[in-house]
Amino acid sequence: MFITLEGPEGSGKTSHIPYLVEYLREKGHIVFPTREPGGTSIGEQIREVIHDLKNVEMHPRTETLLYQAARAQIVEQVIKPRLATGEIVISDRYADSTIAYQGYGHQQDLEQVRALVKYATGGLVPDLTVLLDLDVEVGLARKRKDNEWNRLDAYTVEFHKRVRAGYLEMVKQEPKRWVMVDAERKWDEVQEELRKVVEGRL
Ligand SMILES: Nc1ncnc2c1ncn2[C@@H]1O[C@H](COP(=O)(O)OP(=O)(O)O)[C@@H](O)[C@H]1O
Ligand SMILES: [Mg+2]
Repeated sequence: MFITLEGPEGSGKTSHIPYLVEYLREKGHIVFPTREPGGTSIGEQIREVIHDLKNVEMHPRTETLLYQAARAQIVEQVIKPRLATGEIVISDRYADSTIAYQGYGHQQDLEQVRALVKYATGGLVPDLTVLLDLDVEVGLARKRKDNEWNRLDAYTVEFHKRVRAGYLEMVKQEPKRWVMVDAERKWDEVQEELRKVVEGRL
């Protein structure tokens, strides 16, 4: 089973995954957490380039392609082999992030972006995608407090609002794959719902 967590900045993806993984392991599942961009040696090097605050001149198409390069690598090197042995793979972001950020956020042609994503993933689609949804200003404020500020976090609030709207549109288009969780609530409540949602699908 391939599970992905999506959502705007500061929605809790990175902080929830280790606890979700621990919980599932205690229940006897074999679980492998990973993150995008990154998750492989090549991918982590690309991540540096994408996130570096000094790369202000990066064009949206360059950004889009760098994400796909990292993604192709993690799909082939990590995700597919793990899924083939029956493990549960949980990814902190995946292909839908590109549709949301590079597609809706940068207002690039969605069909072109979708085609690139399909090429990069080799057509691998998650079995379950959880959208941790929240007001983007609430999320950005959490992130600022955290000092985990990267080049994409620094995009305008309007950009992040388009990202969130994009996610909500994707949930509507594919209601079977997506589950939406209200991430503005207390952390513990969100974790509890996340566990329920994932267990319900296993
Ligand atoms: N429900 C919540 N309530 C309050 N703070 C939260 C909540 N969820 C996450 N945070 C905090 O917000 C910050 C960003 O969370 P993080 O998991 O890194 O988000 P993401 O990976 O989605 O950007 C972290 O400091 C985290 O502890
Ligand atoms: Mg994160």
